[in-house]
Amino acid sequence: MVAAAATLHTPVLLAEVLEHLRPRPGGLYVDATLGLGGHGEAMLRATDPDGRLIGFEWDREAAGIARHRLASFGDRFRLVEASYADIRAELQRLRVAGIDGLLVDLGVSSLQLDRKERGFSFRGDAPLDMRMDRRRGRTAAELIATLSEEQLADIFYHYGQERQARRIARFLVRARQEHPVATTGRLAEIVAAAVPRRYHPGKIHVATRVFQGLRIAVNRELDNLARLLQDAPDLLTPGGRICIITFHSLEDRMVKRAFAADPAWTVITRRPLSPSADEIRRNPRARSARLRVAERAIRPDGEANEKKRRRIGS
Ligand SMILES: C[S@@+](CC[C@H](N)C(=O)[O-])C[C@H]1O[C@@H](n2cnc3c(N)ncnc32)[C@H](O)[C@@H]1O
Repeated sequence: MVAAAATLHTPVLLAEVLEHLRPRPGGLYVDATLGLGGHGEAMLRATDPDGRLIGFEWDREAAGIARHRLASFGDRFRLVEASYADIRAELQRLRVAGIDGLLVDLGVSSLQLDRKERGFSFRGDAPLDMRMDRRRGRTAAELIATLSEEQLADIFYHYGQERQARRIARFLVRARQEHPVATTGRLAEIVAAAVPRRYHPGKIHVATRVFQGLRIAVNRELDNLARLLQDAPDLLTPGGRICIITFHSLEDRMVKRAFAADPAWTVITRRPLSPSADEIRRNPRARSARLRVAERAIRPDGEANEKKRRRIGS
């Protein structure tokens, strides 16, 4: 099972994350998007023998795999099965007053994409779900059934960066009047029919951007990131670092602006770091990853010297 977890998702930009996050023994770190625990395991190893990691993961299946994978670290690891958007409240609940580093690795895991029945992929045919946290929220099928043509077009255009957004939304609304659009296969077919042949992209599937847009809407991904960016400066101890890996230009822009706008941050990466050609060859899903790093500024008032009390648990 543990060996399987390592093959289900390859952590992206792992060496770069470790170099910039600088996890060290005795420190307390948060992985806001634990996934299958690839980055998490490396952080725990780097902080041997007593560093601690709190991992947030709202996908039950991924959380189960990560729990099993990281069980050998005992109480150095703690899993929080909640959205990282609630990080402030969750850390308060754990009586954690400050953390030494925060990693956010956005997007979907390979496990989510590869499990056909989760509805993230246009390959094969499955119910159109796309919720990472299946305990709550509306599925992609529900959004398609209930949103207006304009709202759907906006999702495809802004989140999916799909130029044929209006045309696709028009086709979808017509199709749903005949029969609910409830499966990945039917959605992919409708998109393929809506986009004139000459506009079909060469390198990616014609429905890629529509699926991406819907996934971002279903999981409220930009809202969650905005909440985390707002709370993060208060959570990190001075000198602590945040590493954020994005896979979408909208997210990268949000991160860049948040780092630049808040004097609590010292920007470490003026330009985002990208995977090497070698990493992309080994793991093609890494190709659009961008890593930005910032450090919680040390205030001249000596705040850095004040050791904050940290405690996990009761
Ligand atoms: C790219 S994967 C992370 C992979 C991980 N770094 C690894 O090495 O295995 C992103 C993960 O973040 C989770 N995720 C996305 N948004 C989340 C949120 N708001 N709260 C908690 N987990 C979230 C997803 O369910 C997914 O498992």
